[in-house]
Amino acid sequence: MMVRMSHASPTFPWRILAALLAAPLLYAADPAPRDWPAYGGGPEDIHYSTLKQINRANVSQLTMAWSYDAQDGPGGLETSPIIVGGVLYANTPKHQVIALEAATGKLLWKFDSGLDLRGPNRGVTYWTEGGEARIFAAAGSFVYALDARTGKPIAGFGSAGRIDLRADLGRDASQQSVVLTTPGVIYKDLLIVGGRTAESLPASPGDVRAYDVRSGKLRWSFHTIPHPGEFGYDTWQKDAWTYIGSANNWAGMAVDEKRGIVYAPTGSAAADFYGANRLGDNLFANTLLALDAATGKRIWHFQAVKHDLWDRDFPSPPSLVTIRQNGRPVDAVAQTTKHGYVFLFDRANGKPLFPIESRNYPASTVPGEVAAKTQSLPTRPAPFARQTLTESMLTNRTPEAHQWALEQFRKFISAGQFVPPSVGKDTIIFPGFDGGAEWGGSAFDPESGLLYVNSTEMAWTSSLAETGSGMSGRQVYLTQCAVCHRDDRAGAPPQIPSLTGLASGRKAAEVSAVIRQGAGRMPAFPNLSRQSVDALVQFVMSGEDKEMESGAASPADMKYRFTGYHKFVDPDGYPAIAPPWGTLNAISLSTGEYAWKIPLGEYPELAEKGMKNTGSENYGGPIVTAGGLVFIGATSFDKKLRALDKDTGKLLWETTLPFAGNATPATYEVGGRQFVVIAAGGGKSRAPSGGMYVAFALPEKK
Ligand code: HEC
Repeated sequence: MMVRMSHASPTFPWRILAALLAAPLLYAADPAPRDWPAYGGGPEDIHYSTLKQINRANVSQLTMAWSYDAQDGPGGLETSPIIVGGVLYANTPKHQVIALEAATGKLLWKFDSGLDLRGPNRGVTYWTEGGEARIFAAAGSFVYALDARTGKPIAGFGSAGRIDLRADLGRDASQQSVVLTTPGVIYKDLLIVGGRTAESLPASPGDVRAYDVRSGKLRWSFHTIPHPGEFGYDTWQKDAWTYIGSANNWAGMAVDEKRGIVYAPTGSAAADFYGANRLGDNLFANTLLALDAATGKRIWHFQAVKHDLWDRDFPSPPSLVTIRQNGRPVDAVAQTTKHGYVFLFDRANGKPLFPIESRNYPASTVPGEVAAKTQSLPTRPAPFARQTLTESMLTNRTPEAHQWALEQFRKFISAGQFVPPSVGKDTIIFPGFDGGAEWGGSAFDPESGLLYVNSTEMAWTSSLAETGSGMSGRQVYLTQCAVCHRDDRAGAPPQIPSLTGLASGRKAAEVSAVIRQGAGRMPAFPNLSRQSVDALVQFVMSGEDKEMESGAASPADMKYRFTGYHKFVDPDGYPAIAPPWGTLNAISLSTGEYAWKIPLGEYPELAEKGMKNTGSENYGGPIVTAGGLVFIGATSFDKKLRALDKDTGKLLWETTLPFAGNATPATYEVGGRQFVVIAAGGGKSRAPSGGMYVAFALPEKK
């Protein structure tokens, strides 16, 4: 209805008025299955749609129906839009919120928080009751409640329409850094959120929190780093809860509305790679939590990595699936991992549906560090990524590249998962720090019981280095900044700028502001002392190293620091390992067997020379439809959106996007026409970036 009106009234204000008049009718109804009402497609987060207008027989005719260019800055979009009642809600690269006519891509409203933001913002959350509908959208540390019809903040929510995620953590709010990178989920009148926190100390705690959708009042909070007296407190050293941070849910959650359970996977505790000041197993880091959605009480939990020293976060939202075991249906929750596994549990009680094995791993050689003796791995399904890098898996792209890789490889420690990082020698992390699985999550087809999961296969290396005694600007730099900008301040341009020429282009005050507030993909460091920031600014601007009065030693001090994320690439910039560099997998969750597995993506310039189908780094997940199709973008270099036969993985259609579609698509129907939409933002793996939404449909019948 909205669509036709807008065709009839092409002038802008009239169209908005028409939309406003139409809105109450549309919002009154529950989201119909032709919508894509939540991040992940719905509360179960299975990326599935019953739509089948676009199907195996006609998908080859798919054409672009509309595109929308946000045109706000350097770009980058990981957003999966939601679609309710003919309106598409999404983010721009600068974290503005937009509402588009889902049939035409025409802008209905835009909300600008006024904050200068960049970096991941994967979508928004929709809530409706009676005649009212709200959009919850993250902007920096804030979550806004917007009127879904107008995009205006709702005054009665929190303070002037927003809540501040830095509050209510039991620590000084002004020193916290929490941003919502994946949208929250709804359970009745609650908005449940996690958030992104720092990877090094100091870091905010990763509490999972529920807010009243109407008032914005905090209704419950689950401490992922337990306080004294709470279950799991004894898996940390005394007082760790006061100075350790993270163990945060950053990849999103799923809700079993019938049982009233929210499933929240968490990441590692900070600091990621050094845990001598957080000895113990560290519950509830790296844990799948099943919480009572109404109260936040723990129902069951499973910790995949004890005392994480590898940043092995649970990186994806869980998928709430129904599978068949011994001939009967079982409601289950599937959780994928960065190291390439799928864990499958009975949703109600956490009982593993495939046996989980406890395996022994080596001790740490770092003074003071105590690695866990064992880690848990599922016996089925087999991992979807290779597990131990060996000489026979090195690149053969050219003889020179191979020789180079071999020489490097012999300097590394390569022994598979859970080898604790060492001082002075790099250890291979394979699959790498970005998975295996990542934030795009998986799709699940209820008809066949197949789980579709895309995976990157890259090797990364890193090590630890002694921090040294005494405090100085250089010490602060090495512990807080070198991980990205490198020890020599040269960075990794263009993604991470060099800081060597700062003095000529920047004032000290500007540099302190960047450190305090963050910029784009650079996190904020609100909790460094004034003295540290001054010494740091002096060091990064002049190279001069000022000794600081050493304050009292803090348990958050790091005796060893991480030397940085090093991707194992050859001198030409291609992976130093043999393909596949990325895959898409279809796994039966009933049997644990693979239905199919294909390489996903390629480098166009290598493909041209005959090196095709190598797979490539990929970010953003698949969706699956009753039309027999899997749609996936994700690939960073060939910028493709692909449609595959969901039974066989056969490619049925593909198109090249303006920028890589590093985001999960969505599908919906409006006005009798099915669309598939994807955010094309690019910018991953140093690829070009922009901010477009592109929608596809079958040609309109004349
Ligand atoms: C997680 C990686 C990361 C960490 C850690 C990090 N930075 Fe950055 N930094 C970046 C990125 C990415 C940018 C570019 C931001 C943008 O998009 O504008 C940046 C930009 C900057 C800039 C602005 C450069 C310019 O030319 O305008 C300064 C100054 C800076 N960082 C200093 C620091 C200091 C000092 C620290 C330690 C306290 C630090 N950074 C920690 C990633 C990081």
